[in-house]
Amino acid sequence: MSPKLEKFVDQLPILAALKPNRREADGDYYEITMEEFFQKLHRDLPPTRLWGYNRQVPGPTLDVIQDEPIKVKWVNNLPSRHFLPVDKSFLMPDLPEVRTVTHLHGGETPPPSDGYPEAWFTRNYAEVGPFFEREVYEYLNQQRATMLWYHDHAMGTTRLNNYAGLAGAYIIRDKYEKSLNLPSGEYEIPLIIQDKSFNRDGSLSYPKQPDNASEDLPNPSVVPAFFGDTILVNGKVWPFLKVEPRKYRFRMLNASNTRGYQLHLDSEQPFYQIGSDGGLLEKPVKLNMITIEPSERMDIILDFSKYEGKDIILRNNLGPNADPENETDEVMKFIVSKPLKEQDKSVIPKRLSTIPSLRANQISAYRNLKLVGSQDEYGRPLLLLNNKRWADPITEKPRLGTTEIWSFINTTAFAHPMHIHLIQFQVLERQPFDLDRYNEDGQIIFTGAPKPPEPNERGWKDTIKATSGHITRVIGKYGPFTGNYVWHCHILEHEDHDMMRPFKVIE
Ligand code: C2O
Ligand code: CU
Ligand code: CU
Repeated sequence: MSPKLEKFVDQLPILAALKPNRREADGDYYEITMEEFFQKLHRDLPPTRLWGYNRQVPGPTLDVIQDEPIKVKWVNNLPSRHFLPVDKSFLMPDLPEVRTVTHLHGGETPPPSDGYPEAWFTRNYAEVGPFFEREVYEYLNQQRATMLWYHDHAMGTTRLNNYAGLAGAYIIRDKYEKSLNLPSGEYEIPLIIQDKSFNRDGSLSYPKQPDNASEDLPNPSVVPAFFGDTILVNGKVWPFLKVEPRKYRFRMLNASNTRGYQLHLDSEQPFYQIGSDGGLLEKPVKLNMITIEPSERMDIILDFSKYEGKDIILRNNLGPNADPENETDEVMKFIVSKPLKEQDKSVIPKRLSTIPSLRANQISAYRNLKLVGSQDEYGRPLLLLNNKRWADPITEKPRLGTTEIWSFINTTAFAHPMHIHLIQFQVLERQPFDLDRYNEDGQIIFTGAPKPPEPNERGWKDTIKATSGHITRVIGKYGPFTGNYVWHCHILEHEDHDMMRPFKVIE
């Protein structure tokens, strides 16, 4: 358990945009180095050993313009040993302990730059994974303006590398969005939310492999979930932000390993959600509570104009059965104490964008994808997709440019945030079925009609909450690139153990 830490004593860090190392004829060139370093995460906590991009946790923000490609060389300068408990033998016994590969989550990226889990590399490229293709990644930025994020995606150690700090924001901007007069400049702030636990010396705490590991079995290291006992925003534990009495735009990302949040403000003021994973919604959605699962982004406007002089806490609803000692029911504090610099001329537009529905497209394939609880060859619990392991042959092969409906059939007892690389999709519906009956004889018996997605899920999404005992149907058009990608649960403990599958877009 973390030492007792006073809340709201550190200022929220603002994650400044990174300048390119140089401008080249075909786009800006960045070099971003992964290193081990120490950073102070709370006033009363000794500096914490972390892995960060450019010695920053979260990493520097990449702020780019639509249709202007950039290149990034992700340099691995990490030590050869992990400081978190690595289960060496679980998936692939011969993998080097420290391997990295960076994925741009939500990005429409050609395969050689997508950050395929087996395109990992070690320091100085001493060893590289079987899918490693290039040192310098290219991001085309030919997609809607939105906030994506980049994070480590190395085969089997994604949860540890992310927990150690390897994640950051990536914002694509366009002229249209600029014309909307949303809060901008210092009034537009990314909020990257994560949970972590600490030891007294400030070091990160992450559950070890159970000590019943036997000599003859690979270490049973299945950590099925991780819930930290502190909440960080932009790399500070329970920070505060002083704001002016006006509108702000917050670009929220849940970059936690497992934890989903149900956020609300103790002022009872509403959130105006203007965007989701893939950019602006058609119109703003007014919400008193927002649910954000791992890797989801929510573009939110908060209006503090009526709250001058007030303190407002962003709270996380833990439900009625929560342990009263659990302090993760608070996230951060807004202090409306800054004088208004100038009249707030920003707006919450009534109409934000147009989202052409994919429903009218001809459907080339319907895929039933079961989320199942299973066991590995040693009888240890494992969560799988369609009962297949990572290394099983590819089963999902959409044709380039065609539209498919994927049905995530969640037969487990909890929700999983399902993510598909390459595309932004649309949510069609969720339909409940009888979970008990399914678990007895594998029969799917619907217990209700399909329910439409929530109003704030009616835009473009790359990650969707697949609710327990429901089929969640999404429609997506596969392209514009062919090649190898992955789809997976974004609970990183699940993704690593073995809730991730390859897919391939074919000609
Ligand atoms: Cu956010 Cu496959 O990743
Ligand atoms: Cu992704
Ligand atoms: Cu999962």
